[in-house]
Amino acid sequence: MLDLVTTKDHDESRQGEAFAPFEKDPITYRKHFYIESYGCSMNFSDSEIVASILNGAGFGATRDAEMADLVLLNTCSIREKAEQTVRKRLTEFKKMKRRKPGMLVGVLGCMAERLKSKLLEEERLVDMVVGPDAYRSLPNLIEEAETGQKAVNVLLSRDETYADISPVRLDSNGITAFVSIMRGCNNMCSFCVVPFTRGRERSRDAQSIVRECRDLFDQGYREVTLLGQNVDSYHFVADHDVKPVTFANLLERVAAISPLLRVRFSTSHPKDITDDVLHAIVKHENICRYIHLPVQSGSTRILQLMNRTYTREWYKAKVDRIREVIPDCGISSDIIAGFCTETESDHQDTLDIMLYSRYDMSYMFFYSERPGTLAQRRYEDDIPESVKKRRLQEIVDLQGKLSWMSNREDVGRTFKILIEGDSKKSDSAWRGRNSQNKVVVFPKADGNYARGDYAWVKITGHTQATLIGTAISAPESDNG
Ligand code: 5AD
Ligand code: SF4
Repeated sequence: MLDLVTTKDHDESRQGEAFAPFEKDPITYRKHFYIESYGCSMNFSDSEIVASILNGAGFGATRDAEMADLVLLNTCSIREKAEQTVRKRLTEFKKMKRRKPGMLVGVLGCMAERLKSKLLEEERLVDMVVGPDAYRSLPNLIEEAETGQKAVNVLLSRDETYADISPVRLDSNGITAFVSIMRGCNNMCSFCVVPFTRGRERSRDAQSIVRECRDLFDQGYREVTLLGQNVDSYHFVADHDVKPVTFANLLERVAAISPLLRVRFSTSHPKDITDDVLHAIVKHENICRYIHLPVQSGSTRILQLMNRTYTREWYKAKVDRIREVIPDCGISSDIIAGFCTETESDHQDTLDIMLYSRYDMSYMFFYSERPGTLAQRRYEDDIPESVKKRRLQEIVDLQGKLSWMSNREDVGRTFKILIEGDSKKSDSAWRGRNSQNKVVVFPKADGNYARGDYAWVKITGHTQATLIGTAISAPESDNG
């Protein structure tokens, strides 16, 4: 089923990824856990918090579910397909459990709240159900489950941010890391289940964020992505302070750790991103010139039904402003095809705003009605699946052309690339990203580089998803 299409490989390819054992961990663990993560970067980041908590409770990670005492699925509810995939996996683990009766199976994350009684009682698929704000209670819940009771904690919190927990970086490339800066969402977009599964928005202590980023830099990481459902509404007031820390302040503090540490962020809401943030990007070379600015729809009428609180004109003005302040900024989007009542003319408005915004990349979905959301309660899911799919395909095709054109314009330009590892196609080429978040590959033979180094690469060719180039010596102006 064509549920999600993306030209950025990372999210889709990571779905269900299992973590490797901690390579550098000297401790030998008596018990082992296996974890699969689904959905957004926030879930992958949460799995690293869970790993840290489980580590403290004497569990080491394994990549092999067969040798695990505890199997966890960190789940996503955002579209129906994500839930179906997890249910299928749970049925497989139920079979494995018959062979290994002592093994515990737990569901974490967004499906926990929604499906707790179904999963535990009706279908008897799992032993533990733990919501996104209840991971600290995991050790107790495991003990409970070990005695044969069904263990549940799906309470949402107003203040849990796991600020003091150092995530265990699993299966990481050692160069780029996600850092969660806030949890939950107050936006109530009518299609979205996140405000119900992840609760109210709260910002994490700024000092703990800066500390985590500095530790990552000291360990050799060279890029952090600050994560939140709506980063622009980050707002933290320390006890001893009257002045709040805004998102722009936070970006600058993280950027000040070192000019060698790149800073990215996701996701921005068009209604909230401020000029302060744009100016912070311009001021610091190491804050990446890339903004993920989901439009969702190009029709003002649909945007209103979606409760996005901006119009088509407002969005276009935001894009204009970004391009005015940061002329070389990369912009990407999330787009939903076939929302309730969407007409052909609304759909044309979406194609039109894509052309206007010239997205480098988009995550594209067709509308999937989610139980409990405002849209499910208020509007009929009235666009036939065949129409949703056709419109999605038109959106995907247009994005393909836009990505191609955007990459073609980069031929002849030179970018500073952070090297993340080997190219996927060949281990004789390096793979990295430019500030605009485009993947760039170049031959290793071009110089003496290592992962985590910066290289200046002149672009000589491209595909739809990748820039291809050759490394040149650094310009004199480079201070990074
Ligand atoms: N149906 C389809 N796509 C959705 N998204 C969120 N909820 C739904 C839904 N019910 C998309 C939005 C959001 C992204 C993370 O997922 O585009 O920005
Ligand atoms: Fe969902 Fe909207 Fe919040 Fe994003 S901003 S998590 S789409 S409610």
